[in-house]
Amino acid sequence: MKIVCIGGGPAGLYFALLMKKLGPHHDITVVERNKPYDTFGWGVVFSDQTLDNMRQWDPETAAEVQQAFNHWDDIELHFKGRVIRSGGHGFVGIGRKKLLNILQARCEQLGVKLAFEQDADSDLDYPEADLIIASDGINSKVRSRLPEVFQPDIVTRPNRYIWLGTNRLYDAFTFLFEKTEHGWFQAHVYKFDEHTSTFIVECPEHVWLAHGLDQADPQQSIDFCEKLFASNLQGEKLMTNARHLRGSAWLNFQRVKCANWSHFNGHSHVVLMGDAVHTAHFAIGSGTKLALEDAIELVRQFKRLGDTADRIPEVLRQYQAVREIDVIRLQNAAWNAMEWFEVCGERYCDQLEPEQFMYSMLTRSQRISHENLRLRDKGWLEGYEAWFAGRTASPGIKPPMFTPYTLRSVTLKNRVVVSPMAQYMAQDGRVGDYHLVHLGARAMGGAGLVMVEMTAPSADGRITHGCPGLWNEQQTADFKRITDWVHTQSDAKIGLQIGHAGPKGSTCRPWQGAGMDQPMAADDAEGNWPLLAASAQPYLPQGIVPRAMTREDMDRATADFVATANRAAQAGFDWLELHCAHGYLLSSFISPLTNQRSDDYGGSLANRLRYPLEVFAAVRAAWPADLPMSVRISAHDWVEGGITPADAVEIARAFKAAGADMIDCSSGQVSAKQKPTYGRMYQTPFADRIRQEAGIATIAVGAISEADHVNSILAAGRADLCAVARPHLANPAWTLTEAARIGYTDIAWPRPYVSGKPQLEAGFARERALQTATKGD
Ligand SMILES: Cc1cc2nc3c(=O)[nH]c(=O)nc-3n(C[C@H](O)[C@H](O)[C@H](O)COP(=O)(O)OP(=O)(O)OC[C@H]3O[C@@H](n4cnc5c(N)ncnc54)[C@H](O)[C@@H]3O)c2cc1C
Ligand SMILES: Cc1cc2nc3c(=O)[nH]c(=O)nc-3n(C[C@H](O)[C@H](O)[C@H](O)COP(=O)(O)O)c2cc1C
Repeated sequence: MKIVCIGGGPAGLYFALLMKKLGPHHDITVVERNKPYDTFGWGVVFSDQTLDNMRQWDPETAAEVQQAFNHWDDIELHFKGRVIRSGGHGFVGIGRKKLLNILQARCEQLGVKLAFEQDADSDLDYPEADLIIASDGINSKVRSRLPEVFQPDIVTRPNRYIWLGTNRLYDAFTFLFEKTEHGWFQAHVYKFDEHTSTFIVECPEHVWLAHGLDQADPQQSIDFCEKLFASNLQGEKLMTNARHLRGSAWLNFQRVKCANWSHFNGHSHVVLMGDAVHTAHFAIGSGTKLALEDAIELVRQFKRLGDTADRIPEVLRQYQAVREIDVIRLQNAAWNAMEWFEVCGERYCDQLEPEQFMYSMLTRSQRISHENLRLRDKGWLEGYEAWFAGRTASPGIKPPMFTPYTLRSVTLKNRVVVSPMAQYMAQDGRVGDYHLVHLGARAMGGAGLVMVEMTAPSADGRITHGCPGLWNEQQTADFKRITDWVHTQSDAKIGLQIGHAGPKGSTCRPWQGAGMDQPMAADDAEGNWPLLAASAQPYLPQGIVPRAMTREDMDRATADFVATANRAAQAGFDWLELHCAHGYLLSSFISPLTNQRSDDYGGSLANRLRYPLEVFAAVRAAWPADLPMSVRISAHDWVEGGITPADAVEIARAFKAAGADMIDCSSGQVSAKQKPTYGRMYQTPFADRIRQEAGIATIAVGAISEADHVNSILAAGRADLCAVARPHLANPAWTLTEAARIGYTDIAWPRPYVSGKPQLEAGFARERALQTATKGD
């Protein structure tokens, strides 16, 4: 085959040499516009794993790289006058020039033709080629020529960065943070040869503009950075090797991905590779890794399917199918890490103490969890656990999940909450034996706080005929029976979530009639009831149209909420939560999707919050001052034009000002048009943002299903409590089980159950030992 690689970066060169190795008869040329030793940038990093991969495909190149690279294990943070270091992270750093020279020399040795100082205008310039590799970097001309074919999705990110070098040598991957009068700057620093370290300086656009860096030439920018990081540079200079760039040398990162990676141009098959088809932010240091692994995968497919011209279409199809999955995974992790650096100045630098800031930074990609950090550096993690626990009433080395939490007069024994879950098993709004067993079992299961499902302040505030209420004496006594039981038989606290279903009321139980959220059939014996909402808009098109609340309706509902709060106190609850989420009555006021009012309760967010805040204030005044009160909100409507996470910060601020202790950060269920992005811990970013920006304690909830999730969230300061719902349906003793799973034994079981504890712990210990042994094979 005749093959032309346009662009002699890591992708083009590595593919050329591997392909030549696979079939020495192939005629392969790499066309590169630069001179052999003329390149931008300083060092690049990749993981030990990438080098292992290279070793399998061309041991000669891997050996050369190994000779030239710098390996280090530690990450070091310099922040607010503190230096914090943790180990076990395993990076390889190498000069970009050195890497390219190794690849160039290996190409020549194998007989690949290298054509330097040739600017390729288009893939059409090589009609005789069977295959063209467009490895021409992030600004790929080949990709740009045919946007309708490759369908690139390019996002320009807001931060500015400048890629510099220094002769100061660092023995760890080092992160420096410096505050100026206009905001925070950070530097990502790592040594890549005996004389030089890469020094990337980054800041938000507004900070960059405020310092006039848009007007600065490269030397002025260097002077600025040298002054900013002077104490760390210890007299060493910063250097640029991008003087050819006109104007400011500061760049914005561009995230590139493409729907299609290849096409036939009438003469040749063309395939994009490396930065031309996908980029990954330097916060995760994987652009070179991706480029090298692309090359490996394409050669693997030729090896597997045959390296003749007729096999090219199938090879290219398989190449994209296989590679795309890994690339998406890495781009997602890189995206999280990039966002962390974009917001850290506003969200974390001033809010978190250095220890917690370090933890948050280490887990920024959300790929590294608590237990993963333990594997990397047990000593550091235990030190951090002791720091975290030391700030609670129960110091010692223990996972954050098992530290106590105090709010007003209530101390929870640990940070796990059984999230409120509707059971649809009440009769006439009354809870009975079913609820005693259901809630009692969960109170014995180890969680610090058990929340009762949404309970209505009036009969018309229920979701279904099976939902509980608290509007009369009998219901108060029924609940008292349950709270008494929980308080005598367990050391869990029990809370009540109060909420009015509003436009989502009068529906079927999930297993009844047309199902969840659907009105009951007209001939149903139990019957529908009239609904209330902010506006006369049904939740589902076929739903009952609610009446827009009048002032009298509002007064009645507020009075009902207050009466319910008083009854909740009489019933012995420890905690009260006001439900302002999921499209129910109070949520229907907050979201612009459901609130179309033109009076004082509609329009601006402040207006839309007016009635929910009124209810909150009235309830808070009725609820005993020594007991905590949280508010559940939908922090994201997941619909264009709905509530956004930025709005949620404002909502949280308003409830905080009204006296809320905590925001329980759920999302969605406000509009049937929602398009949520599900995934593990998918709502935790809302809890994190609200906690840091509104300065109020938060509960994270949503797809938190392992102790490792809970520990990572709490340790990074993303939330103060974690609510777990569905896992508690499968296993009432979820907390006790998870403690045993991670080997935490200092936890009390209900006395009659104690003989089950060592058995469960031994079972999990065996499982962990087996896993360790298998990994070692
Ligand atoms: C600040 C910064 C820090 C980074 N840090 C890291 C890191 O730590 N680790 C890491 O793995 N990655 C890092 N990267 C990313 C990494 O540099 C790229 O992801 C990687 O180089 C991609 O390889 P490539 O071969 O696809 O493209 P490139 O390395 O960009 O190579 C493309 C080549 O094509 C040539 N070319 C372009 N157009 C033409 C044309 N028309 N004709 C002929 N030749 C052409 C260019 O001159 C260039 O040599 C960083 C990037 C930046 C910007
Ligand atoms: C059966 C069921 C009933 C629920 N009922 C309520 C409820 O009454 N009030 C509420 O705020 N959320 C309710 N939710 C939502 C949960 O509290 C929780 O926010 C959601 O299930 C995400 O957590 P998970 O991923 O741990 O299940 C319910 C969830 C389920 C599965």
